[in-house]
Amino acid sequence: AAPHDLEIGSAVWGKNELLHHDRKNPRQFQAILGDEFGSLTPENDMKWAELHPEPDVYDFSGADAVVAFAKANGQEVRGHTLLWHSQNPEWVTEASASWTCEEARDVLEDHVRTVVGRYAGEIYEWDVINEVMQDDWDAGGVRLRTEANPFLKACSVDPVGLIGDVFRWAHESDPEALLFMNDYNAEGINTKTDAYYELAQELLADGAPLQGFGAQAHLSLQYGFDDSMQANFERFADLGLKVAVTEADVRMPLGDDGEPTAEQIATQAERYDGLLQACLGVPACTSFTVWGFDDARSWVPGVFPEGYATIMTEDFEKKPAYFALLDGL
Ligand code: XIL
Repeated sequence: AAPHDLEIGSAVWGKNELLHHDRKNPRQFQAILGDEFGSLTPENDMKWAELHPEPDVYDFSGADAVVAFAKANGQEVRGHTLLWHSQNPEWVTEASASWTCEEARDVLEDHVRTVVGRYAGEIYEWDVINEVMQDDWDAGGVRLRTEANPFLKACSVDPVGLIGDVFRWAHESDPEALLFMNDYNAEGINTKTDAYYELAQELLADGAPLQGFGAQAHLSLQYGFDDSMQANFERFADLGLKVAVTEADVRMPLGDDGEPTAEQIATQAERYDGLLQACLGVPACTSFTVWGFDDARSWVPGVFPEGYATIMTEDFEKKPAYFALLDGL
């Protein structure tokens, strides 16, 4: 990927895969992770619930392990994530019931400065805000998640003001890192990405150091491929932002035998390549990250009634999707 000035990355759960070895073939897993990828994203280790389990307790062990592994293997790290409605610790959920906006801001500022400051100089891109926009089928349509996100809820009078400050705190704590907004269903041009486009303009007009737009790209073969992705990336790039594919996987419903059909395997390869080409088509695209590279560790089977989502089988056999990415570069 180097000629394209692009990092190809994978998510990895540092605590499970680098510190403890809960799943099979840890050595082989680590060898592939170190060899095949130029960038790592901690799958869970930098989320609030993992990193900040009690008000005055931080647990950096998993995140440190990812950063150390990346350093040892000459890899970059994408930080993930600072403001999200999911995977927050219980104390945040409990305390937020009575937060004023000022109290919420203090808690968030302290966390952002502590975390971003700790890894300053070691993170090339941060997903500063994650999934802050609702889908249009949610109650109320596309708008900021001012109910589900405890911080945005406490500051629902001016959620964009809070978001701008989160970018400012992060930028002050690590001026080198590129600061991203990130979401799912954000690949093509749709009502949700229209809302992000407006949010980006508002933040930039307000002088907030927003520097990137990330499309997670959790795709399923149940749905069609949105070929407006490159055009979507281009409009964010035209605002002066970098763009990235941050969490790519392509899942599919499997038959009773748990196996994909030959046609599904071929279509999956096409979809991975389609995502990569949309990124390669836009010079501002800095990174292409898969959300895990082997089916044994993929989050998909635990969450969706689907599987076979990654580029390698449970036994690290390379799928056509792997070769589609390789050939597509
Ligand atoms: C997922 C992880 O892969 C799982 O291990 C965890 O249980 C839940 O979160 N969007 C995101 C990621 O931004 O952080 C999510 O990761 C997948 C969806």
